[in-house]
Amino acid sequence: MITSIFCTKCGSILYFLVLLLLVCLTSSAGFPCYPIANVSTSWNINHPFDFINFDDGSRVRVILLSGNSGPQFACGFFCKGNCDSYLFAIFFFEIDNSLIQSSDSRQVVWSANRNRPVASNATLQLKMDGGLFLQDADGSIVWSPHTRVAGLNLTDGDNLVVFNDNGATVWQSFDHPTDCLLPSQKFTVGQKLTASVSPTNWSESSLSLSVTDRRLIASAGSNPLQVYFEFAAEQLEFTFLNGSIHFLSRASVDSNHQKIHVPASSSVQCMRFGFDGHLRIYEWRKVGRSCRYIHRDVSV
Ligand SMILES: *[C@@H]1O[C@H](CO)[C@@H](O)[C@H](O)[C@H]1NC(C)=O
Ligand SMILES: *[C@@H]1O[C@H](CO)[C@@H](O)[C@H](O)[C@H]1NC(C)=O
Ligand SMILES: *[C@@H]1O[C@H](CO)[C@@H](O)[C@H](O)[C@H]1NC(C)=O
Ligand SMILES: *[C@@H]1O[C@H](CO)[C@@H](O)[C@H](O)[C@H]1NC(C)=O
Ligand SMILES: *[C@@H]1O[C@H](CO)[C@@H](O)[C@H](O)[C@H]1NC(C)=O
Repeated sequence: MITSIFCTKCGSILYFLVLLLLVCLTSSAGFPCYPIANVSTSWNINHPFDFINFDDGSRVRVILLSGNSGPQFACGFFCKGNCDSYLFAIFFFEIDNSLIQSSDSRQVVWSANRNRPVASNATLQLKMDGGLFLQDADGSIVWSPHTRVAGLNLTDGDNLVVFNDNGATVWQSFDHPTDCLLPSQKFTVGQKLTASVSPTNWSESSLSLSVTDRRLIASAGSNPLQVYFEFAAEQLEFTFLNGSIHFLSRASVDSNHQKIHVPASSSVQCMRFGFDGHLRIYEWRKVGRSCRYIHRDVSV
């Protein structure tokens, strides 16, 4: 009888040992606790034990987990609504020991190729020859960082790091933001945040926030580009931190960072470029286990 869902170190041997499986299930059924995975490993969505179910019908299969107190950071397969398609995503969440969790208790902060969700028997493969692939049920490759990979590491800050045989970082989710920035994540020239179409459709809309060579711009459309917000200070790089957004401009590259003040928080924060084209900062609330919006738009 599954009475509670917590992560369990039994996860990796669940497949093989029926006896242990029973012990795992009766003590605590659930998902793996590891922040690191090595070659060669593959995960398919339809794993019966690793799911967390939410009250809005969505569910996640956790693959990697990090963090011990407060909300935990995880990556894995995430589906919305009736679960006919999934995204490989990074999120943070905090669950209690009920079988169905509140959907407010998790926040997705990154996903791989969100314009192209995968079917329920897609796999994430970390192959012996060093390839990392998200492969859909029909065999098509939906996402791959195109680099030689020895393993994955989900850090305490919710950055998914792909490392090589020497342990060096060869790809990281922090360099490829979707619509969201986390504390200490740098936002720099050439990068952009792209809003989702709507709260229920997470495909990319035409609204984006980008750092061009000399400006931070929020714009709609692509041809022609309609700029509706512009912050021109010759910026090179922005870093969202607890209580401020630091930016480096060409003029100040050798001097101190300039700062924009934003509300500090004792908890996890994220800054999201919303489907309405506004930038909002959210903080995690322990009470109610949800993300609360604390600040809208950055002005100087
Ligand atoms: C991955 O490899 C490292 C180094 O060989 C090892 O210490 C670690 O336990 C492995 N992790 C897993 C989850 O197998
Ligand atoms: C999953 O894979 C099986 C066998 O490869 C296939 O028969 C089935 O149609 C697939 N299901 C979906 C939803 O793609
Ligand atoms: C994984 O990330 C943590 C930071 O969260 C770091 O301390 C650790 O050294 C990393 N491990 C590997 C194998 O890269
Ligand atoms: C989500 O939005 C995209 C882009 O507008 C559209 O092509 C797609 O059909 C939408 N998906 C759903 C499920 O409505
Ligand atoms: C953020 O800063 C505030 C005030 O400086 C501090 O009280 C809080 O603990 C910090 N939060 C985190 C998550 O470090």
